Amino acid sequence: MSAGTVLHAPTVPPTGGAVPTMKALVYLGDGKKAFQDKPKPGISAATDAIVKIVKTTICGTDLHILKGDVPTAKPGRTLGHEGVGIIDEVGSGVKAFKKGDRVLVSCVTSCGACVYCRRQMFSHCVNGGWILGNAIDGTQADFVRIPYADTSLYPILAGEDEEPLVMCSDILPTGYECGVLNGKIAPGSTVAIVGSGPIGLAALLTAQFYSPAQIIMIDLDQKRLDIATRLGASSVVNSADGKAKEAILKLTGGIGVDSAIEAVGIPATFELCEQIVAPGGNIANIGVHGKPVSLHLEQLWDRNIGITTRLVDTVSTPTLLEMVRSQKIDPKKLITHHFKLSDIMSAYDTFADAAKTGALKVILEG
Ligand SMILES: NC(=O)c1ccc[n+]([C@@H]2O[C@H](COP(=O)([O-])OP(=O)(O)OC[C@H]3O[C@@H](n4cnc5c(N)ncnc54)[C@H](O)[C@@H]3O)[C@@H](O)[C@H]2O)c1
Ligand SMILES: [Zn+2]
Ligand SMILES: [Zn+2]
Repeated sequence: MSAGTVLHAPTVPPTGGAVPTMKALVYLGDGKKAFQDKPKPGISAATDAIVKIVKTTICGTDLHILKGDVPTAKPGRTLGHEGVGIIDEVGSGVKAFKKGDRVLVSCVTSCGACVYCRRQMFSHCVNGGWILGNAIDGTQADFVRIPYADTSLYPILAGEDEEPLVMCSDILPTGYECGVLNGKIAPGSTVAIVGSGPIGLAALLTAQFYSPAQIIMIDLDQKRLDIATRLGASSVVNSADGKAKEAILKLTGGIGVDSAIEAVGIPATFELCEQIVAPGGNIANIGVHGKPVSLHLEQLWDRNIGITTRLVDTVSTPTLLEMVRSQKIDPKKLITHHFKLSDIMSAYDTFADAAKTGALKVILEG
């Protein structure tokens, strides 16, 4: 990050006064975390805003950080990259927002000016990208510092229900951009989404913008598949018996699907996508993979398929906000639990034990 020195500058306490503190969920390394006091962040660059968190949530990626899977997230880091809040303070260079404005925080920080931002590939912004709750302190706190506020925050209208909007920070743009858009879902087409977690379900909700003829959801967890049925899946396949390929081929007349979306992040589920993609179709990978996956070109070379990978750019956030506001989708259906921010340790326990608790997205109220 070329602007690293600016972004990581420590908070400067007001001269003469005590350092204001706040509560934050801090990653301590070795799987440990604590909800503890931390200095309240201050403006360290003219383009920063300080946001008071009103609602935030926990992502599967936060669990990955706790396990040590994300080396850029160092012990001491406040976690969280999703949320809505109220502007508490802005730097002198912030033009689009002022104190008191309600805002949605994007999981991706974009400077708006670098070579990748100019190409709308905010995920690879050379001054930002996915840094929040990773390389810089995140949203699971009373306050968060947002760099490049003008291009990394979105306005929320007065009186709007904020809970469904929290889903626009990460999971909706991820499911939509990496799954639906890259998978080229079209009216009348067939779709399989492997993985019915929050991301797979976000892809299911947004896939319906395009009226595909069939959306088949695959998972091992029957509770999640039942939710998928309620959210519009035309069929569900429980892959616990190891026969998902056969079941999907049967549902598609032996042809396979036009769009195979991978929303788990393990070799078995990507390889399932390779087995079920129809000639001329697309495999759209969403999952974060930590292990190599076999690419069966001996079976795929003549099938005219496309394979895409993508880190969410959040370029679709304005579109998704409009789709939520106009009730074309209701992401509130993904929210299963509510906690106070001060109860975040229990919220993590509930979220991490999803198989037992049935948790999808938990809302934490500041
Ligand atoms: N590309 C991006 O920008 C981006 C952004 C956010 C998240 N992600 C990734 O997307 C993936 C999904 O995220 P999530 O929060 O929904 O995760 P999650 O862990 O909540 O959901 C994954 C689902 O996959 C199911 N599953 C596990 N093994 C399976 C198997 N063998 N067959 C079928 N289903 C299986 C689980 O039961 C679970 O319901 C993760 O890998 C996450 O890291 C990617
Ligand atoms: Zn996330
Ligand atoms: Zn940029």
